[in-house]
Amino acid sequence: MPAPASFRIAVLASGRGSNLQALLDAIAAGALDAQVVGVFSDRAQAPALGRARDAGIPAHALSPRGHASRDAFDAALFDAVDASAPDLIICAGYMRLLGDAVVAPRSVRMINIHPSLLPDFKGLHTHRQALAAGATRHGASVHFVTADLDGGPVIAQAAVPVLEGDDEASLSARVLEREHPLLVETVRLLAWRRIALGDDGVHFDGRPLQAPLQLAANNRFA
Ligand code: GAR
Repeated sequence: MPAPASFRIAVLASGRGSNLQALLDAIAAGALDAQVVGVFSDRAQAPALGRARDAGIPAHALSPRGHASRDAFDAALFDAVDASAPDLIICAGYMRLLGDAVVAPRSVRMINIHPSLLPDFKGLHTHRQALAAGATRHGASVHFVTADLDGGPVIAQAAVPVLEGDDEASLSARVLEREHPLLVETVRLLAWRRIALGDDGVHFDGRPLQAPLQLAANNRFA
């Protein structure tokens, strides 16, 4: 059963947008049967918005300033997201906390990519955290979004070694290179409806997933 090309993706991004670009490139190459129907940012200057415009995709910037509270901003943002009728909402470098009021009704169709092997190193500066902890393995995770920051059920991960002499820049570059195929391959499984969020966690092909899928060197899940 082919994944419907009508699988609609909304992307939330605050900055550079390289993960968004990986999705756009995979779609353009025919490697991901989906469409990005809108890109949404809390920063008008986010390069991610330019990438969307370059691809002919509606780009929306909404400033938190001018909203009375975080909840009011979240509600306005998700009104715009909902108007694009997405099947999946992807937080790809979206750097604001999301409140439970917008997360809870959308958990089953909202994912986040986070630059660590969760549950290790939640929050910010994950590469710095990994180096400070003396980790020998690091990487990235894609997880369903819950109100628990970086704490939602993990779908898939890509691991990299931490090498002698690494600094934040070298480690983050090694992780980012694996983030892109990790996100694309995970979205492909979601588009094919092979991954779902059940009451007891992530389901893969209808069965509870015992441990996160691991992206192998050939960019397939082991
Ligand atoms: C990525 O490394 C992503 O994992 C991280 O921000 C970067 C965005 O890069 N996300 C978080 O830290 C969220 N907690 P990009 O804008 O080039 O995709």
